[in-house]
Amino acid sequence: MARLAVLASGRGSNFQALALALGKGQGHSCALLVHDRRAAGAALRAAELGIPAFHIAWSGRPRAEAERELDELLRAEAIDLVALAGFMRLLSPGFVAAWRGRLVNIHPSILPAWPGADAIKRAYEAGELIFGASVHFVDEGMDSGPLIAQDSIRKKSGESLEALEERVHELEHRLYPKVIRDLLDGSCETGRMG
Ligand code: GRF
Repeated sequence: MARLAVLASGRGSNFQALALALGKGQGHSCALLVHDRRAAGAALRAAELGIPAFHIAWSGRPRAEAERELDELLRAEAIDLVALAGFMRLLSPGFVAAWRGRLVNIHPSILPAWPGADAIKRAYEAGELIFGASVHFVDEGMDSGPLIAQDSIRKKSGESLEALEERVHELEHRLYPKVIRDLLDGSCETGRMG
């Protein structure tokens, strides 16, 4: 059975969806949360879910130090797969190389369209009609690694940005757990990880 770590900076709704989907049974586990902001909603959700949460500071020190701490934690905890879920830090090429193929991210657009922050809002304001989410392997760029899965929805006539954002997040909460479960299954089959 494989062990997932989730990295988050914000409210943590995707972290929660992953944790609930994997559950506390005998299958794969959401073993831990790492966050870079003490005030992250994700940390509160981890406490509620009984999942260990680790704060690693990125601010005020070299990125390499934070990444070394992260790498040591992931190895010590025998983590097989790392899911970024609203993690607002760009990982260095060295870290990405060390974890390549075991680092995935979710982004609220149909990549390669609308990479970066505030993707839904920017697409909405530009008049897009099709919205969605993408799960991809992480590479050295911003929301640019190889795609694993995407799903889309059509904007309803007159739909507000808030309503649309909510529907995109609901889509994410269905898509991400499905993809992560498949990857965790695969990691067990190949015996490559852990
Ligand atoms: C999600 O829309 C995710 O796709 C993006 O950041 C947002 C995080 O939301 N990378 P949450 O913290 O999981 O609620």
